[in-house]
Amino acid sequence: MSSYEIESLLTEARRFPPPAEIAEGSIAHPDLYRQSREDRLGFWADRARECVTWAKPFTQTLDWSGAPVARWFADGELNVAANCLDRHVDAGLGDRIAIRWEGEPGDVRTITYAELTAEVKRAANALAALGVGQGDRVAIYLPLIPEAVVAMLAVARLGAVHSVVFGGFSAQSLHDRILDAGAKVVITADGGYRKGKVFALKPAVDEALGLLGSASTVEHVLVVRRGENDIAWDADRDLWWHDALRAAPAEHAAEAFEAENPLFILYTSGTTGKPKGILHTSGGYLVQSAFTHRNVFDLHPESDVYWCTADIGWVTGHTYVVYGPLANAATVFLYEGTPDTPHPGRWWELIERHGVTILYTAPTAIRSFMKLGRQIPQGFDLTSLRILGSVGEPINPEAWVWYRDVIGGERAPIVDTWWQTETGTIMISAMPGLTTLKPGSAQLPVPGVRIDILTEEGVRVDPPNGGLLAVTEPWPSMLRGIWGDPERYLETYWSKFSRPDEGKWVYFAGDGAHVDEDGDIWLLGRVDDVMNVSGHRLSTTEIESTLVANPMVAEAAVVGASDETTGQAVVAYVIVKQSRREEHTDAEFSELLRAHVAKEIGAIARPRQVYIVTELPKTRSGKIMRRLLRDVAEGRPIGDTTTLADPAVMKLIEEMSGSPATTSITAGLPKRRR
Ligand code: WTA
Repeated sequence: MSSYEIESLLTEARRFPPPAEIAEGSIAHPDLYRQSREDRLGFWADRARECVTWAKPFTQTLDWSGAPVARWFADGELNVAANCLDRHVDAGLGDRIAIRWEGEPGDVRTITYAELTAEVKRAANALAALGVGQGDRVAIYLPLIPEAVVAMLAVARLGAVHSVVFGGFSAQSLHDRILDAGAKVVITADGGYRKGKVFALKPAVDEALGLLGSASTVEHVLVVRRGENDIAWDADRDLWWHDALRAAPAEHAAEAFEAENPLFILYTSGTTGKPKGILHTSGGYLVQSAFTHRNVFDLHPESDVYWCTADIGWVTGHTYVVYGPLANAATVFLYEGTPDTPHPGRWWELIERHGVTILYTAPTAIRSFMKLGRQIPQGFDLTSLRILGSVGEPINPEAWVWYRDVIGGERAPIVDTWWQTETGTIMISAMPGLTTLKPGSAQLPVPGVRIDILTEEGVRVDPPNGGLLAVTEPWPSMLRGIWGDPERYLETYWSKFSRPDEGKWVYFAGDGAHVDEDGDIWLLGRVDDVMNVSGHRLSTTEIESTLVANPMVAEAAVVGASDETTGQAVVAYVIVKQSRREEHTDAEFSELLRAHVAKEIGAIARPRQVYIVTELPKTRSGKIMRRLLRDVAEGRPIGDTTTLADPAVMKLIEEMSGSPATTSITAGLPKRRR
């Protein structure tokens, strides 16, 4: 975030108490906070009994003896899928709509809990017939269609582990993830709809498996028919999903697995090049998913229609499209396509048509709707909406107030929810029926979660002050590690603040935050080399490595520059090899390299700009000073250059990037607080 945005956050004084009708029917109760303060483990044990049906009850709440790898409810047993399906049917809710889905072309499907349960049973049988069993990894590379939910639940039902890869990732990224997880089966589709066209998915799977060659652990590829596009077929390996399900028996008894049985691996960007496989397990994850979903969104499952706009390829899609809502027997709305296809009011049309009552989305979406103007949403009836949620990046007060006024009819409360792939579920949020809201603040840790803002040295800051966000006690949905890399797990999250010799383990989140006089938390963005583009995490190092791997490139530096719509944008500075300089113009190099990154990682990583330069600003010890490059990318006056080996370099870069820093728009702004 820019210093201007941080300043506007911290001087924000508007307050919004809970609307009477939400407060009266509030699912969340102040007792939750009281109990969790007095007896945190007792609190979680109660929530675990309330939110989950255990095949074998647990007797121990937390085993922290193997810290920092937690075991929650460890002697309990459950089946995660049966908790999302069968138990609701058994409770007489079989006719309730589980999923109402609309495809981008406008095709609609409605699936009840009884139907979803039947479909998952068949899919589980089909996967079992392909040899998938407890602990096996299954990669899922699908568009946002109901089969994506069925696939995840079928894998979970078998006690196997899914690794969902976002459909926008490239063949190379898919390859890396399949290889790291050692997947046995891949579930994909011929294609899906996006921006009015079919985008093919199967060719990326073919390419990824081709790259793997004999290293491939993949025995079968299940293909859902969606795009009806032509695809290549390997008769020994590929199977149509519908054929496999048709051939599978209808009945499937859900086996109970230990609470710590792995549920999924989800890859996310870190500060170093290689994405990390974040590992989550079953019991604790499901408990905190269901608890937070119910309370943070004030879920009334009998009447709400809940829509989380995230793709299932991200953690938000795992926890708040699939596991949380389905464990709570909610009616989930799903939409396959893009917000502006075929017209810019598409989301609002969907809310009107399907009577959506709870909307959970990202600030970047809100900001792009703001740009288009309020007359677009105002052309639709949005009065069904009662609760709004925000996730993925800090929401600036202007966007917050616009969201509440224009989308929420000047009444719907907004919950700004802070969490991470690693935390599994929401960690900081207001409660709509209890909290007086402050635009731009995520506000309070959810009950049962302990958070502190610390100095670099690990000392708690006194409010009002800023520092680093840390979680000071284990929580049920915490990650259990990084797949195949216990060292990196310790190093990344537990080395900064923990004192293992004193038995003190503190989780370092990588975010800066400010705490105000009331104890409310204001998130200020990442403090490491992780960028946040449209709410998606990208690593500067990963993109730099990708650029340098291109034979034209000698050196590259990447920064996240603040961007009005996407929060941050990727900006790269590249030195082309001397021997190749004559081959293209700078503009051509720039285009080729933007395309290169999109091809290697995925379109979300495509740099907004690639500047071709002849030097990079380095310290005398050779470290690239990204801070200065960010100044140039954001059109700010360049900061302190005294530690540069050659201070003249910055002048050159400014000239080459064609964006000489202007003082006019930024003069007089407060200094960065972090
Ligand atoms: C950022 C997404 C401010 C943060 C659920 C975090 C937020 C990273 C918020 C995790 C929020 C997420 N306010 N920043 N409400 N929510 N973030 O793993 O920097 O994709 O560390 O999980 O997103 O991104 P991830």
